[in-house]
Order: sequence, then structure tokens, then C-alpha cells
Amino acid sequence: MSIQWFPGHMHLTRKAIGERVKEIDVVIEMLDARLPGSSANPLMAELTSGRPTLKVLNKQDMADPARTALWLAHYNAQPNTQAIALDASNTAPARAIIDACHHLAPRRGGMVKPMRVLICGIPNVGKSTLINTLKGKRAAKTGDEAGVTRTESRIALADDFYLYDTPGMLWPRIVVPESGFNLAASGAVGKNAYDEQEVAYELLALLKADYPALLEARYKLGRAPEAYAQAHEEELIEAIGRQRGALAGGGKVNMQKAAELVIADFRALHIGRITLETPEQFGRWMKAGLKSDADRAERKKTLREQGLISPERKAKAPKTAKPAKLR
Ligand code: G4P
Repeated sequence: MSIQWFPGHMHLTRKAIGERVKEIDVVIEMLDARLPGSSANPLMAELTSGRPTLKVLNKQDMADPARTALWLAHYNAQPNTQAIALDASNTAPARAIIDACHHLAPRRGGMVKPMRVLICGIPNVGKSTLINTLKGKRAAKTGDEAGVTRTESRIALADDFYLYDTPGMLWPRIVVPESGFNLAASGAVGKNAYDEQEVAYELLALLKADYPALLEARYKLGRAPEAYAQAHEEELIEAIGRQRGALAGGGKVNMQKAAELVIADFRALHIGRITLETPEQFGRWMKAGLKSDADRAERKKTLREQGLISPERKAKAPKTAKPAKLR
């Protein structure tokens, strides 16, 4: 899927985070519990590699609890990593976060060596909401327009515990196509960057395989789970659109409207608590994505050597831009 989602300011954010990371003890990586693998920023992993990491599976109220348990076990089995699940209804998340960070960096703490924690996550993952809760007041603005960034700020969670906020950041190129679709379905990507019908098809492909009973409960198409699994996505969207009255002229279904309806239902939890990927599934997607990426790079290299395409150019940040200032 082609997505235009890495504006110039994100290059600056990347630079600024690279600087900040040098003096950080623990990284808190906020993930969307509905798509933990896809909402993990590979660029951030590169920038923070080697740092102890606390994975916060946020919006767990929207995710499938059984799959959240799978993801927690998956991350907790990784070295230098801890994982917790959270959602906005948790009004006192600070203790769990502070304890997990001390566990990850036991030598930090006290006024001489305060704990320095960087919190990061893709736009819309719920970072401002969590930070507001941690601060105990609604200071940072929340909103649902993906790609909106803010300047980093420092928050003292305790006298010896500093949390550095970073602007929500995406990454320049999607290596795992399934991740692109899942991110779009979740609302992490600005709506001008993707095709709703394509995203709804991919979403339904996952839902009909893993959550057919939830689809039936929502759309009442009178079908057994196996019938959902066997149906083609286009036919399913059409049936859903007809059932929900998303009609165009001449009794035809307005496929665009039907696609938007399915995506909106997913985001609003009207279909149910859903997680779009398991660790095992995401691992397979990642493997295939990396392979096709390597094949692509190899093909490009050959074409370059044959003089059929121009030499590689380095991506540049806009000329006028200065690196974002971190306090
Ligand atoms: P960001 O800083 O990472 O970009 O995300 P932000 O906190 O702005 O949250 C994005 C949206 O996600 C907000 O909804 C917020 O209420 C919602 N949200 C955050 N945490 C949770 C959670 O744990 N569970 C659920 N279900 N939703 C969560 P919004 O509709 O954009 O804004 P509003 O309704 O809060 O005004």
C-alpha cells in the first residue's frame, strides 16, 4: 500500500529523539493493543536499540483479552523487556510504570541518579491521554488527527523519576503491507493516506477468519462462521452495505460508504474487542516483508549496476528546517 505519511518534521523528530536517547535509562514504547506488532515503530527500535524497554499495550479495553495475554507473554520473554497492558480507565497507572522501570534499570533512582525515561508511540496510540493521567490534570491536548506532533517535554513522576515525552512518530516506508492496513484501520494514519475500500477488504479478511461470530452479531447476515470464512471480502462488504442501507442509485450498494461503515464500526468497538494480529502471525508477516524488501533492494542494485536507474540519493530534511529542540 502506498502511504504518504512521513512529512519533513518527522525527520527532525527522529534527529531529536536520537540525541535524547543517549541519556535515557528506559524507553517506554506505547503500542496499540489491537495491533501491537504493527504499531511498533521500527525506526524507534533502531534509535533506542539496546535500551531496556517497557512495552505498554494501550487501549486494552478495545483489544481481545486472550490475544493481549499472548502479546504480553511474547514481550515478557524478550531480554531487557517488560510489558504491561493499560487503558484509559486505569486512573492510577503511575505505580505500575515506575515499578516496571525500576525493575528494568535497578541501578537508577535517588536524587543523584534519577531515572530518565523516554516515552514514545505512534500518533493516536493514547500517549497524551496517559501522560495527562500521570500528571493528574488535562494539560496535554488529545485529538484524533493522525500525524499531529508536539514538542517534547519533561514530566516529573516522582522526585527522582523523569519522563520525557516525544512527538508521535511514524516511519518512512512500510515493509510489512499487513501493518499498513492494520494501522490505517486503527486510525493511526491520516485518512487521506489510504484507500478506505482497500483497508476495509483487508480488515474483513482478518475478521471473517478470526472473529466471524462477532461479525454475525453486528451485521446479522444470517450466516454461520464457516460461511463468513468462505465468503469473498467484496461480497461481504456488499452484503453488509445492503443490510445497513448504504445504497447508491438503482438499488446498488455504495461500496465506499459500506467500507467506511465497517472501518468506523471497528474503531468504535461496535464489532467487539478485536486484536488484528497475534505474535505468530505478525512474525510471519515480518519475515515475508523483510524478504520482499531485500529482494527489492537486490533488484534495484542490479538495475543500478546496469545503469538502468540513477544512483541512490540520500533523503534530506527540508533545507529551512532546524532540528526540533528538546528540553
Ligand atoms: P496520542 O497522544 O498518542 O496521539 O493519543 P491521544 O491521547 O490523543 O488519544 C487518541 C484517542 O485515543 C483519543 O480519542 C483518546 O481518548 C483515545 N484513547 C486513549 N487511550 C485510550 C484507551 O486506553 N482506550 C480507549 N478506548 N481509547 C483511548 P479521541 O476520540 O481522539 O479524543 P477524545 O474522545 O478523548 O476527545
